[in-house]
Amino acid sequence: MSAIRVRASGPLAGSVPIGGAKNSVLKLLAATLLAPGEHVLRNVPAIVDVECMSELLRTMGCTVERFEPHALRIVRPETITPEAPYELVERMRASIVVLGPLLTREGRARVSLPGGDDFGSRPIDMHLKGLEMLGARFTTAHGYIEAEAAELHGTRVTLEYPSVGATENALMAAVLAKGTTVIDNAAREPEIWDLASFINRMGGRILGAGTSTITVEGVSPDELSGVEHTVVADRIEAATYLTAVAVAGGEIVLEGARADHMDMLIQKLGDMGLRTSPDPAGLWAMAPPRLRAVDVATLPYPGVATDYKPLMVTMLAVADGVGIVTENIFRGRFRYVDELVRMGADIRTDDHHAIVRGVDRLSGAPVRAPDIRAGAALVIAGLRADGETVVHDAEHIDRGYEDLVGRLRALGADVEHA
Ligand code: EPU
Repeated sequence: MSAIRVRASGPLAGSVPIGGAKNSVLKLLAATLLAPGEHVLRNVPAIVDVECMSELLRTMGCTVERFEPHALRIVRPETITPEAPYELVERMRASIVVLGPLLTREGRARVSLPGGDDFGSRPIDMHLKGLEMLGARFTTAHGYIEAEAAELHGTRVTLEYPSVGATENALMAAVLAKGTTVIDNAAREPEIWDLASFINRMGGRILGAGTSTITVEGVSPDELSGVEHTVVADRIEAATYLTAVAVAGGEIVLEGARADHMDMLIQKLGDMGLRTSPDPAGLWAMAPPRLRAVDVATLPYPGVATDYKPLMVTMLAVADGVGIVTENIFRGRFRYVDELVRMGADIRTDDHHAIVRGVDRLSGAPVRAPDIRAGAALVIAGLRADGETVVHDAEHIDRGYEDLVGRLRALGADVEHA
C-alpha cells in the first residue's frame, strides 16, 4: 500500500511531458497478437497497466522487452497459447480486448470472465454480440469464456452503444475476417483511431476509424507483419495537469498534448476561466484567480469523457458558484465524492448527478484513492487544501500515471511519496 502526501501549493509553473495514452497502448499491445514478427511501440508510458498487459502477452508466449524508457519491443511468435488467465484479467479488465485478435488469428481463445470493479458491474455483452455477428461461438464454464471461430465472416455490426472495448474487439476481429465488415455506432475515441492506424501499418485495411462508421476489409494472415508505431498522446493525463494548474493556479505548458483531442473539455475549462492556447510544444494553459462553476455531463467521445469527471468535480469543488455534474457512462462512479467531502468540499450526489457548491479552500485530510482517475483528482485537491492531505491506496494512481508525483513537483507542487 502506498500513499502520497500533498500540501497547499501554487502557482504552478514550467513544462510537463504528456506521455502515450494508457487506453491506447493496452489495445496496441493486444493488436500485436494479430501478426507474428517484431513490433516496436514508442511513447509507451511506464505504468503498471502496461506491465500487466505485457505480462499477459508473455504468458501467451510473446517476448516483451522495454529496450528504452518509453519503447517496447514485442516479438509475437508463430505459435502462441491463446489464453488469458484469471490472475491477469482480474488485475486489469482491459485484458478482454485480446479476445478479438485471438479469435481471428488463432480461431479460438480462452479468456477469464472479467469481474466487477469500483465503478460497479461492467458487462461485456456487446463485445460478445459483435464477435458473434462475425461468426464466433461462445460458451462459459468455470469462470472462463471459451471462444471458437473456424472462420469469421465480414458483416454489419451495429453496436447498441458506442462502447470503446466492444468497438476495439469487433474491429480487431474483422481485420482477418473474410470480406467486409461495417461497424455502425462505433466509438469515436482518438485511441480507436490510433489502434486502426497501427493495424493499417501492419497491413490491415480499416477506413473511418474515429467516426461512427468503421469499414474493415478483411485481409489474409500473411498480409500482416510487425511494424513500428508511436502511441497517441494521453488526453486524460493532459486533462489531469490542466486540472492541477486550474486548482493550484499558475501557468504551464503540456509538452506533446493534443488539444484537438480535448475540444469539448477545453471549451468547458474556457467557460470556467482557464485560458489555453496551442503551443509549438503542445498546449499552454493559465489559471484565472478563481474558477467559475459550470454544469457538465459525461458523454462518449467527442463529449466530455467520464474519465475527466473526478477532475471536473475537483475543479468545481473550489470554483465560484454551483455546478451540476451528470454521469452518463458508468453508474455509481462517484465514490471519491465522499473523500472530497472529508476535505471540506460541499457536494451532494443524487443518482447519477453531483451538485457541487464551490468553497474557496479545502481542508487537508487523510483520504483513499478508489481508482486511477479519482486518485489523481484527490492529489490535486490537496494542492488547494490547508494543511496536509495524505492520499492512501495511491498504487491505483501508478496503474495509469507515470510519475505523477515527480511531474507535479517539477511544476512546483509540494507533493511526495509518504
Ligand atoms: N457496456 C456494456 N456492455 C458492454 C460494454 C460496455 O453495457 O459489452 C457499458 C459499460 O458498462 C459502460 C459503458 O457501456 O457503462 C461504456 O463502456 P465502454 O465499453 O465504452 O468502456 P471500456 O472500453 O470498458 C474504456 C476505458 C475507460 C473509459 C471508458 C469510457 C480502457 C482500458 N478503458 O473502458 O477508461 O472510462 O472507455 O470512455 O480503454 C481509465 O482509463 O481509468 C478507464 C476506466
